[in-house]
Amino acid sequence: MPSSLAETVSQLRCINCGSISSAAGRNFRCASCGELLEFVFPEWKYDPESLKSVWLNRRMSLGKGPCHQLDPSRLDQSGVWRFRELLPQIPAEHAITMAEGNTPLYHLQRCARAVGVENLFAKHQGMNPTASFKDTGMTLAASAAHQQGFRWVACASTGNTSASMAAYAARGNLRSLVLIPEGKISWGKLSQSLDYGALTCQLRTDFDGCVRILNELVQCKPVCLLNSVNPYRIEGQKTAAIELLEQLNWEAPDHIIVPGGNLGNSSAIGKALFEMHELRLISRLPKLSIIQAEGANPFYRSVHEFGGKKLEPMSAETLATAIRIGNPASWKKALRVLRVTGGQVEQVSEVEIAEAKAEIGADGVGCEPASAVTLAGLKKLRTSGFVNPGEIVILVLTGHLLKDPDFTIKFHRGDLFGETTGERFDKQAKSLQRAPIVLDADLGAVIGALDAAERNS
Ligand code: F0G
Repeated sequence: MPSSLAETVSQLRCINCGSISSAAGRNFRCASCGELLEFVFPEWKYDPESLKSVWLNRRMSLGKGPCHQLDPSRLDQSGVWRFRELLPQIPAEHAITMAEGNTPLYHLQRCARAVGVENLFAKHQGMNPTASFKDTGMTLAASAAHQQGFRWVACASTGNTSASMAAYAARGNLRSLVLIPEGKISWGKLSQSLDYGALTCQLRTDFDGCVRILNELVQCKPVCLLNSVNPYRIEGQKTAAIELLEQLNWEAPDHIIVPGGNLGNSSAIGKALFEMHELRLISRLPKLSIIQAEGANPFYRSVHEFGGKKLEPMSAETLATAIRIGNPASWKKALRVLRVTGGQVEQVSEVEIAEAKAEIGADGVGCEPASAVTLAGLKKLRTSGFVNPGEIVILVLTGHLLKDPDFTIKFHRGDLFGETTGERFDKQAKSLQRAPIVLDADLGAVIGALDAAERNS
């Protein structure tokens, strides 16, 4: 098997009517029925053991030049392009890569004890170049835009897609246009898209309103849409699951738990699981469960109230702004993943999210609020008996703690929710809160604080 770009044949197929398109339109929807498209690979005939060894060899290989885009050996340093046999083919000269992927798998010891599962791990996608999971999909989608000769790329975003897109566009000499809801994304994420040089428009609407405008824009301007309806995004994000299984020595875990917003990530991870199973890289499918915030739960309601037959868009509200989404584009793809893997969809409250985030932080790992829904959801799945103590559970942490420091500081100072919180939060949160202490510059004062902390521990 070649270690340069593999000859992979791919087609775009509609997830609803099955029509095959030779090329996607500007909105990446089926020309016949308007549903989303996905890549399929009709000619795959791989021996699973050779795939594993080629991928491992690439991981162990040393890249040549430090940062030269055109050096094909750089692709082997990427936790996405390393798995290129399972991806649509893009010529190496168009690849925009920043050694994305390659993210760690952490054992969450304290959280494991608190939840009552021994084997609890976090696949930390916040350890990507722009500090969120979006980079794994963006490297492929931005490269495809480059290959297709676009000058402009664009996205609607709750902050992470835009940060990632802006960075990859800058690396590939593309211009980027960001549409974000005004006042509803964290400063960390906004500052990234500014620094990476995007044209950043804060629209007076929510994420779903930004998506609407963008869909109209791409019909009248030659800009490449880089939201997760773009099937290249899904293909890149698949690799998080491939890399995870490699880290687990190809032994499938029992559960994978992901946050659900626009539902691209759950669709991508699920697609990777199906494909790895089909290729006999793994012998069984893990259950993939999706967790939403109570105030942004259209998918939860679709499954629990309407049996997955329809999804009613809603006006979403949550402090986990990354998943403040009321009309998720990929809900039908995610529904299929839920059904085939036998996973569940849960919802969690604002208080549960805040506590879970602090608990992950107390394990020395940390994540942004949207990622913490996974632990909060796991607690519910444990209580209901869906997850058993002896099972292996993976939480996909989607973003870095430093994406939203405001949330964290407010939590620890005790003013995240103002007056609105009930008893339970106050009691539980007290043990997790670590507000900074202001003292005089005096040795005795510091020793006093140290002794008090020791007495209370
Ligand atoms: N976690 C984080 C940190 C996110 O930024 C997002 C989505 C999700 C989870 C949900 O993933 O949409 O694939 O279900 N953020 C998008 C954005 C919408 O614009 O950054 P999803």
